[in-house]
Amino acid sequence: MEIKSVGVIGAGQMGNGIAHVMALAGYDVRLNDVRQEALDQAVALITRNLDRQVSREKISAHERDTALARIKTTLDISAVGETDLVVEAATEREDVKHKIFESLGPHLRPNTILTSNTSSISITRLASRTDRPEKFMGFHFMNPVPVMQLVELIRGIATDQPTYQACLTVVNRLGKTAASAEDFPAFIVNRILIPMINEAVYTLYEGVGNVKSIDMAMKLGANHPMGPLELADFIGLDTCLAIMNVLHDGLADTKYRPCPLLTKYVEAGWLGRKTQRGFYDYRGDEPVPTR
Ligand code: CAA
Repeated sequence: MEIKSVGVIGAGQMGNGIAHVMALAGYDVRLNDVRQEALDQAVALITRNLDRQVSREKISAHERDTALARIKTTLDISAVGETDLVVEAATEREDVKHKIFESLGPHLRPNTILTSNTSSISITRLASRTDRPEKFMGFHFMNPVPVMQLVELIRGIATDQPTYQACLTVVNRLGKTAASAEDFPAFIVNRILIPMINEAVYTLYEGVGNVKSIDMAMKLGANHPMGPLELADFIGLDTCLAIMNVLHDGLADTKYRPCPLLTKYVEAGWLGRKTQRGFYDYRGDEPVPTR
């Protein structure tokens, strides 16, 4: 089946990036959120990021304008049900995701493919609560979506081949590359990346290094584009903690225990860039390490 329109649920960090790349690739996009303010902010951010691509001569002004014209925002989830492919990119909480798919259910076309951008929650479990587990998949983008090359495609136990093929075609049309992952906690990227970040937090917690030396060590010593603590702030410390908990619960191995210091930062509401404070303080002109 050919995908022409895409519904994106959740206009946050990931949702706005997904709407951006889908519109640029020629899909008609319905972007949905429960808050008008989130939709307005998303459109402003997509416009800024498209402008940046125009100024770097990655796209033309005409491509920017047609992409923006393809994005329709809506507070009404039923409008998303009319699309060919839905990408759910709401808060990383399983109860929230179940509620979204439940409220979307009655408005879906028979052939609509459902996907979730979840970074770690079981696709099989999310799918089992819908009326179409065979048309349900994980469609996991990396942040920042317009820049990162990879999309993880995760099949649930019931996902059928035409659904996988349709999603793979979308990934290719986006000019991105798909990695297939089996449906086990946190899939591939986060199974490896988030324990590394958690280990960096342990390294900080145990006083092996401070924020600056840990990040510098991994940037210059392992050629990572960002240090692990800077990256944790970028991803969101609440998201990192949630993924560690999914690994810990789902794989029942103590090697995945979240670092108490990560928990403490989250308890403080220091969630990284989005709250202006995490392992760095972003309130001034330059980020300042908090330890
Ligand atoms: N939209 C459009 N373009 C963007 C952008 C955005 N949101 N953000 C950055 N860019 C573009 C810039 O315009 C720039 O383009 P050119 O190459 O044409 O100049 C390019 O990306 C690089 O950006 P900058 O020069 O501003 O900054 P940088 O060189 O420091 O790179 C970065 C920024 C791409 C984010 C880089 O630091 C990086 O790759 N960091 C690691 C990111 C990462 O690991 N992401 C995965 C997180 S894990 C995840 O997402 C999974 C999960 O479930 C948690």
